[in-house]
Amino acid sequence: MIKLINNSKRDFRLLNLTDPQLKIEEWDENNQTGKIFRKTVETLIERVSPDLITLSGDLSYADDFASYKKFADYFDSFKIPWTCCFGNHDNQDGDEPMQKVIDEYMKHDFFVFEKCDQSLGNSNVVILIEKNGKNSEAIFLMDTHDRVPYKENSCGINQAWGKLTAEQLNWYEKRVLELKEIGCNESILITHIPINAYIQAAKSAFKNPQPDKSVKLSDSYGTNIWNAGYEDSYGVLHEPISAYPEDEGAFDLICNLGSTKNIICGHNHVNNWVVKYNGVRFIFGTKTGCGSYWEPEINGGTVVAVNENGVVSVNHEYVDVSDLL
Ligand SMILES: [Fe+2]
Repeated sequence: MIKLINNSKRDFRLLNLTDPQLKIEEWDENNQTGKIFRKTVETLIERVSPDLITLSGDLSYADDFASYKKFADYFDSFKIPWTCCFGNHDNQDGDEPMQKVIDEYMKHDFFVFEKCDQSLGNSNVVILIEKNGKNSEAIFLMDTHDRVPYKENSCGINQAWGKLTAEQLNWYEKRVLELKEIGCNESILITHIPINAYIQAAKSAFKNPQPDKSVKLSDSYGTNIWNAGYEDSYGVLHEPISAYPEDEGAFDLICNLGSTKNIICGHNHVNNWVVKYNGVRFIFGTKTGCGSYWEPEINGGTVVAVNENGVVSVNHEYVDVSDLL
């Protein structure tokens, strides 16, 4: 298990970025998509001064090794520890390209990662944060793969968005128990594809749990769109939640173990709602840059502050890039 030791007086700050989806040509100095991405990242780093940068998947597309390499060189240049889990686009060509990417990333000084059993996926890692002498928080990054077969109908076998497999949930449980033994009772889980419980959380929290683009980001910071008991929620639901259709016991396991109090995902670029449901905060990370599809208003990242006793705050940081449009 990797440990990051932080003894500064201020809270430990995790900056999560998600879904850049940059192709190699977009790293060109004059490319608009690249400019928007770099302005967003550099503004966030200056504003937040993070202790760790996490990337919740879809960095690029599996066959674009040159883009992945640019990515690593770029993030290492900030001299801030960074790590990632992979998304469906990273995993879309199987394991081999991502194993090559990991091998390349491991050569970078500030990449924080441990290879796991490959049968669990390409990116499952636990990072323990020691804050002022206490094992205060663990960060799980877990691989939700690409699409997977789901049920057979007259047209053949359907595909569904990926999930955490039973073997990964076993791995997660074992790690949580190990962490408890060393006094770490709280964790953040970061995946690319939302786990199914996001659907349950949205149904509970939103007055209208259907995607609604007429709800503006600013409206979401009020109380009008939320059910009673969920007024501290914020962020928009602008597209369907692309999760695996079944929960398969994952959320019960998370609740019963009682370690993970915050879950961050990406994948849906124009969802960024944050809802506390059954004691767990469900967070759609704010998308970083305009790669693939986006809404300029929902551009930036997500900041989690951690002290000796665990997570103290979660907020989205937005970056205005209208000068580049
Ligand atoms: Fe995705």
